[in-house]
Order: sequence, then structure tokens, then C-alpha cells
Amino acid sequence: MKRFLTAALCLFVCTLALQAAKHKVKYGPWVPVVDETSFTVNWVTEVPTQAWVEVAPDDGTNFYKMERPRFYETLGGRTVTRTSHSVTVTGLKPGTRYRYKVCGRELIDGTNSYSVVFGQPACSYTPTTVKTLDASAPTCKFTVVNDIHARDAVYKQLLAGKKGTDMDFLVMNGDMVSHNIHIDTTFKHVFQPVQELLNHTAAIYVRGNHESRGEEFDRFPEAFPMHNGGWYFTFRQGPAAFVVLDGGEDKPDSDVEYNGTAAFDQYRAAELEWLKTAVKDPAFQAAPVKICLIHIPMSWYEDIWYAQRRLYEDFLPVLNAAGINLMISGHLHKYVVSEKGEGNNSFPIVVNSNNERMDVTIEGKKITLRFYDTAGKLLRTLNY
Ligand SMILES: [Fe+2]
Repeated sequence: MKRFLTAALCLFVCTLALQAAKHKVKYGPWVPVVDETSFTVNWVTEVPTQAWVEVAPDDGTNFYKMERPRFYETLGGRTVTRTSHSVTVTGLKPGTRYRYKVCGRELIDGTNSYSVVFGQPACSYTPTTVKTLDASAPTCKFTVVNDIHARDAVYKQLLAGKKGTDMDFLVMNGDMVSHNIHIDTTFKHVFQPVQELLNHTAAIYVRGNHESRGEEFDRFPEAFPMHNGGWYFTFRQGPAAFVVLDGGEDKPDSDVEYNGTAAFDQYRAAELEWLKTAVKDPAFQAAPVKICLIHIPMSWYEDIWYAQRRLYEDFLPVLNAAGINLMISGHLHKYVVSEKGEGNNSFPIVVNSNNERMDVTIEGKKITLRFYDTAGKLLRTLNY
């Protein structure tokens, strides 16, 4: 009888576990935004779902033994039912790793305003984790990849063996896909191939020129939210302050390739006005190290293309005056370094190859860049 009861209990618990695993996540989760006291989780479900995130400290305790705060996806105070989700978790401590589960209830029938019908609530089975940023941390560690252009195999090889828990964040430095004819292209080729890594670190997306191509380019905020009216913002980790910029498209707005759809001069003009103020912020100026992340490098060469010239002539003087120590870029599909003073740049500009991974460590004022190939072989080290 005792054996029968044990088996029955096991069957019951196992069935519950199976039900709990039914939250139908199609892509994700990934963390596109993190700061000292909050983070944002995005994910995609197969069907319209009322979504929330459950959070617990990553302190070895049983996730189910404690009361866990729920953070719902809402719009103006009401929960929403969608397939593309974004939930912000707030009230956290700096420099602390948290476990979280993405959860939801499928929408069965939403036609009656007073009795919306949902399916069973369910969560992701294994908690994922993320660590909040901390301006007082002694170091800042991050990894950069760029110009992947949906080459899943190369992307996976570059990040093979990297652990999310070993870095403060991953930087996707633009042109991760070639276009967004369907936004699924970004979900499928940017997040899915490295999901294991993204289960334990934030992913900072620096928009490249290719992300704005394709009919569903306007759904890119589902992958990475806008900041300050565009994809430009600042953040801080340990000794390093970051300014992330968006160079827009690389050719003139009038180029036939854009067929009258481009208005990037206007976009860059607004961004430049924001930048002039952002870099004067005392919190940004107080950082021992200041780094600019931008897909298109602000270096000079003979046959410089239109957008690069605009960035070089309009943005570079502002960054020089702001005391930037290093610019990290992509776009050229090869490793190129423009040392300080090669052009008008008063800081080095390092362009990462499309076939290399860059691991960056900042300790105090010391910046170390290590470059690896697809086999994981260390190719070179730069120190600034
Ligand atoms: Fe590019």
C-alpha cells in the first residue's frame, strides 16, 4: 500500500512538473536591459499569453519554498495578452545575481470583457539568472560579437564555452542579421543560437545598419527596446561608463537602395543633440574609463562612406571633448585599429572582425582586449 501511495504521489508530482513545463516559449528569454536595481526580460510565446516573471535571489535556496514577487506585463495598469513579451523587474540590489522564471497563461477566449478565459498558469521549468550592474564593482567584463549576419554556425563557434556567469553582459555590436523582413529572423538568429549563454547574462544590442532593413524593421523594439527615442543610451558597470550610439544606415538617405524610406540624417541629428548633453552628465564624467560602442567606426580613410563621414565630422568632436578612452566597432568585417591621433580621434578605435570574438576586461583604468577565432584560439591581446 505504501509503495502504491509513493508511486501515486510521484505520478502526481511528475504530472504537475510536466504541466509546469508547458509554458510554450518559442524564443528566449533574453535580458536586453539591466541596471543597478532592475532588469527587463523579453521572450516570445507560440500563442497570445498573459505573461509575468517570478524572481528569487540566486542564493541556493529552493525556488518554490519562498513567496516570490510577480512582475506582470502590463499596459497602463492592465495585463496584456501577446506573443512577444517584455517585463521589467524592479526594486533589486546592485551587483546581485537573481533567478527568474518566465510564466504565463494562454488566452483561450478574450471576447467577453467580463470573463476572459485563460488556460492553466505555467512557468519555464529551470530558472534562468541575471546579475544587476554595480558602479562600485572593481572590474567590468564583457564579450563582443558583431556582423554575424545570421550565420548561426560561426556565431555558436565564437561563443562556444563562454558562460553567462563569467561576464557582466554580452555586446551584440550590430548587423547580427542582414534584414528584418520578418522579426522572427532576429529572434531565431540572434537569440536562439546562444540561448544557453543568454540564460545567464544580459545582452546589450548596438543597432547596426542592417537591422533597419526589411518590412518588419519596426518590430525591432520587441528584440531590443528604444532608449531616448532611438537606440542610443548610456550605462555604467564598475569603472566603465558606456555610451551606445546608432550610426543608422551607411549610405546617403537618397541612395536608390533605400527607395525613399531612409531619414537617417534627421535621426542622427536628434541623436547628436542627445549625445552632447548625455556625455556631460556628472555620473558619466566621473567614471575612470569611458567607452563608446557603435557599429560604424568613426575612423578616417580615403573612400569613407557617407554615414561614416557624418559620424566622423559631427559626432567625433563631441566624443573627443567628452574624454572617451576607447571606441569599439564593427561594420568593416575585418580587424582594424585606428590608434589615437591617426585621424582626428583622440582615442583608439578598435574594429572587431566578423569572424572573431572580443573579450574585454577593465580593471581600474586598465583596458585589456583579447581576440579569439572560431576555434577558441587566442589571436592577440591589446592593452590600453
Ligand atoms: Fe554594418
